[in-house]
Amino acid sequence: MLIINESRELNSFLSLFELTGLKVAFVPTMGALHQGHIALIRKANQSGGLVVCSIFINPTQFNKTEDFEKYPVQAESDIDLLKANGCDVVFLPKKEEIYPNGTDYDLPFDPGYLDDIMEGKFRPGHFKGVAQVVYRLLELVQPHELVMGEKDFQQVAVIRKMIADMELGVELVTCRTVREKDGLAMSSRNLLLKADYREKATVIYQSMVECRENLKSMKASQAKKMAIEKIESAGLKPEYFELVDPFTLLSISDEQTKGPVQACVAAWAGNVRLIDNMPVRH
Ligand code: PAJ
Repeated sequence: MLIINESRELNSFLSLFELTGLKVAFVPTMGALHQGHIALIRKANQSGGLVVCSIFINPTQFNKTEDFEKYPVQAESDIDLLKANGCDVVFLPKKEEIYPNGTDYDLPFDPGYLDDIMEGKFRPGHFKGVAQVVYRLLELVQPHELVMGEKDFQQVAVIRKMIADMELGVELVTCRTVREKDGLAMSSRNLLLKADYREKATVIYQSMVECRENLKSMKASQAKKMAIEKIESAGLKPEYFELVDPFTLLSISDEQTKGPVQACVAAWAGNVRLIDNMPVRH
C-alpha cells in the first residue's frame, strides 16, 4: 500500500495508473477507522481497480473548534487496518494541500433545503464544509467511483445533489451501516463515550426498531413521540427524531400511511453527539 502525503505525488502516481485503463474507487474518511469504514473499502474493491482512501480531519465541517480538536486520531492503526483490507493508496494530505487558498467557502454549490433540516439545522455550515472537502478531494483523486456510508444518510443526499448540480460525473456508491453486536452504529465518536453512556447509547438503535413496529399500527407523529420519550428515558438527550421520505428527506405526515420511511436520529450521550438512521417502512 502506498502512503502519499502530497497532491503532486498523488497526481503523478494516478497519471501512471490511468494507463492501465482500470477504475479508481475512492473512500474519503476522517480516520479513527473501524469496520464501517472497512466495509466501504471492501465495496470499493469490487470495482476491480485501484482503491484510494483519504484520511483528513476536515476543519470546515466542525461547528466547534473544540469538537475538531477532540476528534480521535490513530494514524498508525488506521494504516495497518487499511493495509490488511485491500486499500492500495492512502492519501494523508495536510491542510494546505486541501485549502491552498484558505478555508472560505467559494464553491458554486448550494445544498438548498438540505441545509435547513435535521443535521443542517443543528449544525449550521456543516454540509458546506463537507461539500467543500469532498469536492476538493474529488478534484485531486479524479475517481470513477465515490464510496460513502448510509450511516450519514443526509451527507449522502448532499453529495448526490452536488454531483448532479455540478455535473461532476462520478458514480456515487453507498454502503449499508455496520453496527456493533448490540445495534449501536459504528462511529469514530464511539471512542469518546464513557462506559455508562456506551451502554445507554444502544437506545438509539432500539428506538428505531421499536418505531418500525409502532408504525404498523400508529400515526407517524405518535410513533415519533414514543421514540423520543424512549431515548430520553434512557438518559440521552435527543436533538431530533424524524420520520422522512428517504428520497427527499422531508418529514412524512400522518396521512402518508404508505411508502418508504427512514428514521433519522441525533442524540447526545453525555458530551458526545451520535447520529443514526434506518428504514422503518419499505
Ligand atoms: P467519517 O465519519 O470518517 O466517515 C467516512 C465514511 O465512512 C462516510 O462515508 C461514512 O458514512 C462512513 N461510515 C461511518 N460509519 C459507518 C458505519 N458504521 N457503517 C458504514 N459506513 C460508515 O463522513 C465523514 O468521515 C466526513 O464527513 C467525510 C465524508 C470524510 C468528509 O470530511
